[in-house]
Amino acid sequence: MKYAARMDRLGTETAFEVLAKAKKLEAEGKSIVHLEIGQPDFPTPAHVVEAGVKAMRDGHTGYTPAPGLIEIREAIAEHTERTIGVKTHPDEVVVTPGGKPIMFYAFLAFVEAGDEVVYPNPGFPIYESMLDFVEAKRVPLALTAANGFRVDPALLERLVTPRTRLLILNTPGNPTGGIVAPEDLPAIAAICRRFPDLIVLSDEIYSRILFGGRHASIAAEEGMREKTVILDGFSKTYAMTGWRLGYGVMPKDCAARFSRLMVNSNSCTANFVQRAGVAALRGPQDAVVAMVAEFRRRRDAIVDGLNAIPGFEVKRPEGAFYVFPRTSGTGLSSNDLANRLLYDAGVACLSGTCFGANGEGFLRFSFANSLENIEEALRRIRKVLAPVKA
Ligand SMILES: Cc1ncc(COP(=O)(O)O)c(C=O)c1O
Repeated sequence: MKYAARMDRLGTETAFEVLAKAKKLEAEGKSIVHLEIGQPDFPTPAHVVEAGVKAMRDGHTGYTPAPGLIEIREAIAEHTERTIGVKTHPDEVVVTPGGKPIMFYAFLAFVEAGDEVVYPNPGFPIYESMLDFVEAKRVPLALTAANGFRVDPALLERLVTPRTRLLILNTPGNPTGGIVAPEDLPAIAAICRRFPDLIVLSDEIYSRILFGGRHASIAAEEGMREKTVILDGFSKTYAMTGWRLGYGVMPKDCAARFSRLMVNSNSCTANFVQRAGVAALRGPQDAVVAMVAEFRRRRDAIVDGLNAIPGFEVKRPEGAFYVFPRTSGTGLSSNDLANRLLYDAGVACLSGTCFGANGEGFLRFSFANSLENIEEALRRIRKVLAPVKA
């Protein structure tokens, strides 16, 4: 088969490849602790499952309007207003199968070949993949361990130009757990407002998984609502990764264009899944609170455990469920160390370089695994690395 040249520019998420390697090792009888996966290890709350099953039984199995059922768009609009203080109309919401299509559509809708895209590095690998796909110019925004991987407005100021079409913010961030600090948002918004054609894609998929403070969105800053697309969803908050349910909040004319992209790609998000989403947003939130409390316990255990390993160094991440320790002190490259941990220790994690060039010298561990498994992983890492330091 002959493929279009653009297919050569499409990247991937290495997490899925590492998972496949780890599964192969398991099939060969090796014990693996999975700290590579970016999905909660909790079940979807029971009342949400029930709502999905009931919707199917009640016959809600046909198409819905492309941007989503009015019931879920209303629930999302109310939720957005309540949580980040951004007044939202249901016509400004587009529901998608997972949050990822919002990312895809933002690149398709706004970015021409040669346009500049500023994006976090280390950052979610699909940003770089998508910008290469549309032949944009890469402008990585370095996130550094020294300031807890927060976005530095002074650095951003130097990177944004009249050719910048898209600025991607991700708070809390994958893979670092760093945030865009609420106190830095006015300065970041002031930079954005100077460039009329600049759009912000604010990826807030981890907004409910925060270990202190409140989540704040750039969309709430003066003049930013009309130039921001918020990406959010149910995957992480409600442990619903496999259901495929996400959404974007954006100005109405932008929502009409994203809906057109939905018609051309997915038609709509699964009907009964959207109804389960209404139950998630409108129902009790105690499962979310309990999950975040458990993530906090695990975060503290893994941070303390990793810092006790020679050559590892990490601050407490502020959100999401990842730690991103500096590991250059081990004397091994990130790739070599990740492979060593997988094959010698039976601990699956990701090399920092899966998240861009600035990830060299780091590893990503997900703490979406039980405290016992995290302790076991730490024991295994200590054992395997002990001879290196001897
Ligand atoms: C930063 C970030 N954005 C978006 C997504 C996509 O989420 P979904 O599974 O809802 O498409 C992920 C998933 O890993 C993510 O880490």
